[in-house]
Amino acid sequence: MTESRMDAEASALREQMVEGLRERGALTSSAVEAAFRKVPRHLFVPEVSAEEAYGAPEAVFTKRNAQGKPVSSVSAPWLHARMLEAAQVVPGMRVLEIGSGGCNAALLAELVGEQGSVTTMDIDPDITARARRLLGEAGYGQVRVRDADGARPVQDAPVQGFDRIVVTVGASDLSVAWLDQLAPAGRLVVPLRFRGLSRTIAFARERDHLRSDTLIVSGFVAMQGDSAHAPRVVCLAGREVRLVVDEDQPADADALTAAFTGPRHERWTGVELGGSEGLLPRLDVWLAGAVAPYGRLRATQAASERGLVGWVLSRGAPAVWEHDSLAYVTLRQAPQATEERYELGVIAHGPQRERLAAHLAEAVHRFDKVIRDEGEPVVRAYRRDSHEPGPGGVTVDKPSVRLVIT
Ligand SMILES: C[S@@+](CC[C@H](N)C(=O)[O-])C[C@H]1O[C@@H](n2cnc3c(N)ncnc32)[C@H](O)[C@@H]1O
Repeated sequence: MTESRMDAEASALREQMVEGLRERGALTSSAVEAAFRKVPRHLFVPEVSAEEAYGAPEAVFTKRNAQGKPVSSVSAPWLHARMLEAAQVVPGMRVLEIGSGGCNAALLAELVGEQGSVTTMDIDPDITARARRLLGEAGYGQVRVRDADGARPVQDAPVQGFDRIVVTVGASDLSVAWLDQLAPAGRLVVPLRFRGLSRTIAFARERDHLRSDTLIVSGFVAMQGDSAHAPRVVCLAGREVRLVVDEDQPADADALTAAFTGPRHERWTGVELGGSEGLLPRLDVWLAGAVAPYGRLRATQAASERGLVGWVLSRGAPAVWEHDSLAYVTLRQAPQATEERYELGVIAHGPQRERLAAHLAEAVHRFDKVIRDEGEPVVRAYRRDSHEPGPGGVTVDKPSVRLVIT
């Protein structure tokens, strides 16, 4: 195929991708749409065909570790679009990207224009070499590519700080460097893991802390380096049923596993939701700020089918526990529903199962009565040494920040 024919095919595929993103509501800003129409995504994933580069619904993995686990990727188009829209980048801005696939840095370069600047940092020299080469070949040689741990400060950061910091790797804390190097009116977009959940959060400054205004359900490869962090996994029934908890939360694995093999108590809440209401992701986050300890119960489909657990979605279900008892949220088809509707319930095990089930069900009721119509939960991040008064209640403590979810 001639080069001009290949370019024409890539342009047609890019156009289809943009139309698809617009139809799904993933692209709403005209500036981001214009950047998407320009950046040749296929040149940043030469490992796959142009059809796959533009048509694959999720990320294209570009590097795996010795165990076969993905450590680098070019993120899915819908996620690039949602994150860039949440970042609200305008011409002339100075932007820092952490994690260098090349494609997102090129989109950022389009958004900041000639007067702005984009710096992208990656901890893996293979990835920075790849990004440098592909950015150069695609005509984005102006993007500065740095080999460094992105949790550390950038040596030649602008004096006023970066207008935008866009993290494109799964973090379990907000690095002090990001807080220090963000301009006063800056925005930080970061995929954050907390309490077994994974949300890309767009933060803006509010007085001396950060306040979220966008939460996107998303998965990312995990951060490596000094801030690498793996959540703790308590196996309740081998690998089939697991409780994912944060390290600062005490969980007695033996006592909880014993509880899980004991009798179950089921409690239905009468709280219903529609199939496309998008309520569960909001409940998931809000509960993490309303009950403690909070983690995620994850189960294989086979475990659900064998009745080992109630109906639990693949991304897991909210769970609470005590020393020797645990409870989690489950779903069933709403009784007498004529359309796609589900009822939330709670299943609990262990000597304290009835009390724990009532406690979690009460929180679900509170969500239904007070929060349900309020929109997205809000995540605030305070530096751990801050004396600024927060809203109180349950906090999620990370090494550098304290999260408060309301
Ligand atoms: C999902 S990829 C980046 C996607 C990319 N920005 C794109 O254009 O779609 C995540 C990258 O983060 C990098 N990474 C992991 N830990 C890091 C760290 N501590 N500092 C900087 N980069 C890191 C990985 O090497 C990987 O290349």
